[in-house]
Amino acid sequence: MSEASGSFYVRRSPTIEFVKSLLKRSELVVGLTTSARQAHERLLGGFITNHELVNQLALFAPNSSGSPKAKADLTMLSAQTAFPLICELLAQQGSRPVQARPLESFCSADVPNSQAIELAGLFNAYGSDKASSHNYYLVYCEILGALRRNHLRILEIGLGSNNPDVVSSMGKFGRPGASLRAFRDFLPNSEIFGADVDRRVLFEEDRIRTYFVDQTSLRSLDELAAVLPEALDLIIDDGLHSPSANIATLIFALKKLKCNGWFVVEDVAEKSVPVWQLVSAILPQQYTCRILQGRSGFMVIVKKTSGARQL
Ligand SMILES: C[S@@+](CC[C@H](N)C(=O)[O-])C[C@H]1O[C@@H](n2cnc3c(N)ncnc32)[C@H](O)[C@@H]1O
Repeated sequence: MSEASGSFYVRRSPTIEFVKSLLKRSELVVGLTTSARQAHERLLGGFITNHELVNQLALFAPNSSGSPKAKADLTMLSAQTAFPLICELLAQQGSRPVQARPLESFCSADVPNSQAIELAGLFNAYGSDKASSHNYYLVYCEILGALRRNHLRILEIGLGSNNPDVVSSMGKFGRPGASLRAFRDFLPNSEIFGADVDRRVLFEEDRIRTYFVDQTSLRSLDELAAVLPEALDLIIDDGLHSPSANIATLIFALKKLKCNGWFVVEDVAEKSVPVWQLVSAILPQQYTCRILQGRSGFMVIVKKTSGARQL
């Protein structure tokens, strides 16, 4: 700080207080920046405290005293091992958990046959990855091929949003409704329904109707059930791809499927297979559950056969 006046010029040296106040201000700036960064990281899900982790995953947390770090580590361990351990328990009790098999084992005919090639061509032409990245088209051909002239009702959750701000989006070059259009063309007498959490991609066109749904909410799935016809032939979950959203959709599907109808879950992570082994063990015998290992992802298939009781 300096001061000039006509007769004298005084150059004041910075006082200790001034230096201190500067330091304080810089601390404040650093503090604010740090807490803003932490808040931002929290928002992005990049950082949570041990205490928060234990609270958020209370289902798996040890109900014990201990340091926050130890409790957080044990909570993570419990979340990672609970489902595999339940499967181990099932095995010990004599129930054999369903094992993943190659996807081709689901197909009766030599594949790919001409119908499968046709369906793959439709998926590719409309921009779905069911035949390009995956070999899921083989499963759909197996389920639908012999029935393709019938009047079927099919629902697929997950339209293929092209909005990158949505989880599980197909990216900005995605083509919403690609797989619905492929099914519509493959099944000339069927009705195709679609549902998605991204309202911006909902649409309606010849034999296709789409609706809002949030698979993470049973209430939202119930609302979807209310506007759809009864007795669907096939329900596909190609939406969020999280185990709990999948299970919520299974609860919905078992109520909406007709007898001999199918529920298919795409893109199941290998690490989530024990969840499905457990689900399969819980389902009554009238439901057949298969886990298939595809070209680049696992698929779960549940068939509702006659006499099945509602979940
Ligand atoms: C992989 S894309 C579907 C691709 C499409 N079936 C195809 O084959 O072209 C996944 C879709 O799931 C939707 N989605 C994400 N979270 C969801 C949720 N909670 N409920 C319903 N749909 C969701 C996304 O908006 C996205 O459109």
